[in-house]
Amino acid sequence: MKLNIAVLPGDGIGPEIIKQALDVTKAVCDKFGHELTYKEGIVGACAIDKLNNPYPDETHELCMASDAVLFGAIGDPRFDNNPSAKIRPEQGLLAMRKKLGLYANIRPVTTFPSLIEKSPLRADLIQGADFMCIRELTGGLYFGKPQGRSEDGNTAVDTCVYTREEIERIIHLAYKYAAKRRKKVTIVDKANVLETSRLWRQIGQEIQKQYPDIETEYMFVDNAAMRIIQWPKSFDVMVTENMFGDILTDEASVITGSLGMLPSASVGIHTSVFEPIHGSYPQAAGKDIANPLATILSAALMFEYAFGLMEEGRVIRNAVTASMEAEVVTEDIAGEGIKAYKTSEVGKWIVDYIKE
Ligand code: IPM
Ligand code: MG
Repeated sequence: MKLNIAVLPGDGIGPEIIKQALDVTKAVCDKFGHELTYKEGIVGACAIDKLNNPYPDETHELCMASDAVLFGAIGDPRFDNNPSAKIRPEQGLLAMRKKLGLYANIRPVTTFPSLIEKSPLRADLIQGADFMCIRELTGGLYFGKPQGRSEDGNTAVDTCVYTREEIERIIHLAYKYAAKRRKKVTIVDKANVLETSRLWRQIGQEIQKQYPDIETEYMFVDNAAMRIIQWPKSFDVMVTENMFGDILTDEASVITGSLGMLPSASVGIHTSVFEPIHGSYPQAAGKDIANPLATILSAALMFEYAFGLMEEGRVIRNAVTASMEAEVVTEDIAGEGIKAYKTSEVGKWIVDYIKE
């Protein structure tokens, strides 16, 4: 098969982790006889520096012309600590999601046997946890207008907007995934306070009738935040609006073992994007210490979701599991008394394992 992908390393640790995921992708293509072509594009702070635009037109055209996008991370402390910056790296990620029509961000949360004991959560609570968070990605507070400041600068406004169409398509998607899993959908909202949430719940109640063999549960977001760490096994497919999904999945990564473990697939109208859920971790940039596994696992999702190559995805996942069993892990998961490996060493170990 011919795989034509766009590679967007971005900022901070982005280039280091993307290199490992790309090497793994190449190894898998070699092994299975696929023809891989890829082109790199710029996005985020590095694109602001070069072109004063966090998502340049040529990067968008590259994404549109590709079958899949492998994305690293964006963000830069120069902007984080400067609230008055008008152009920000994150706008690049948001513009990419919006322009590619990526309305659904799929974040699978699972556990790895070799990490269970390392979780700050009790092993018996997380053992066997396996759910999927489907985060709405192109609406809500992230994109609502108006957004801005009053003339004197002392009042700020963000707006949460959702249309019926946006809610319907993502809830249908959640049922589609649940049908292939354990047949349960949890719709997370704040319908006791927010009008947008009441629309989510109303539409959920309409749509659930079309899926009588799937159980539907409604949950307020504050309660969901608690249940994720108290009883994660009770979830199968969770669907929620943009901001709630952002927050709940960072929390859910604790179940997996580290924020550096959680991959994601952003799907919708145009080319799908595969990206780790974590940010650019600028303190670690260039040090070869960041965990590459979320990005490598995102490459596995790319094979499966963008190309339907399930065996290739499984080979990557097996290699990742093997690396953890061999304790070839970065410092975020190594734990006390166990040697921590470099980003590049973990990547190379996984590549060698796949080649074997
Ligand atoms: C994520 C990230 C992004 C988001 C940031 C970097 C804009 O936190 O993908 O979860 O909030 O969507
Ligand atoms: Mg986030």
